[in-house]
Amino acid sequence: MSTTELAATAAAMVAPGTGILAADESTGTMEKRLVAQGLPATEEMRRQYRSLIVSTPRLGEWISGVILYDETIRQVNDEGTPLRTIAAAAGMLPGIKVDKGAKPLAGSPEEKITEGLDGLRERLAEYVSLGAKFAKWRAVLTIGEQIPSATAVHTNAHALARYAALAQEAGVVPIVEPEVLMDGAHSLERAEEVTTEVLAAVFAELRAQRVALEGIVLKPNMVVAGTDCPAQPSVAEAAEATVRTLRRTVPAAVPGIAFLSGGQSDATATAHLDAINRLGPLPWRATFSFGRALLAPALRAWAGAQENVPAAQQALAHRAELNGAASSGAYDATRE
Ligand code: 13P
Repeated sequence: MSTTELAATAAAMVAPGTGILAADESTGTMEKRLVAQGLPATEEMRRQYRSLIVSTPRLGEWISGVILYDETIRQVNDEGTPLRTIAAAAGMLPGIKVDKGAKPLAGSPEEKITEGLDGLRERLAEYVSLGAKFAKWRAVLTIGEQIPSATAVHTNAHALARYAALAQEAGVVPIVEPEVLMDGAHSLERAEEVTTEVLAAVFAELRAQRVALEGIVLKPNMVVAGTDCPAQPSVAEAAEATVRTLRRTVPAAVPGIAFLSGGQSDATATAHLDAINRLGPLPWRATFSFGRALLAPALRAWAGAQENVPAAQQALAHRAELNGAASSGAYDATRE
């Protein structure tokens, strides 16, 4: 596939007023989310939950693409229609998480390296046959006393670029996700320093491995202080730090930046996205690729009961609409 075609898909993924829904929790993560709601962590519960999400009325107005998990791209609704087909019919591009999770990094076991490169070319080919238009690979970096180490930064950047090159070869747009976690007591300044270092390493590797920047979507963390940091910055301060970091590291050839929410509350993530866009014009579209910040209210409202499906869908549509507005700097906080 040509760079032009990849660029067209990437542009559609970050089209004005829209963002991406990350519904690609691995089975283990999805089990944790269900158990936290007191629900049985079965394949059937996961199917029902994913089914209600992708069938949410009007979702395609604000959601350009849905990231699915290997299990979910194969699942069907009660009528036997594949969930990927329901998403596509609603105007949401189906995407697929292709990494195999973050594992302890040899030599620095409190850090992580994301696995999943072996056999990736063949897995991508199958996902293309199932209709996937884009993919996702998440690298995880932790901030601590002596970390992230240069080893963690560079091995993860290298793997992200190897994945991105294979995805583009297969004709799917890679979402490149280097997540600097907000766990810890670090300051906003430290988060900015580490995120800058990580993004610089990622773009150096993407260039070295000849990934076409016009055909990727970057999925970074917002630059925020650690959850346990006593001095929490304002929304405006976090937005300024985020935009400064991205301007310094992300080439203008990249069509879009779609942030992860990373454990921020749903309203905070939306407020940050809005404040980031109000600092524009920016060289790239800045939008969302939220998981928890879009889905947590829906999961709570559903509580595993069929009669709650409309309320759960309403909760998801509401967050999607607010985030769609925030992606253009037009969020109205009074609608929370
Ligand atoms: P959160 O928005 O919940 O961080 O999830 C986004 C995601 O896809 C993480 O890989």
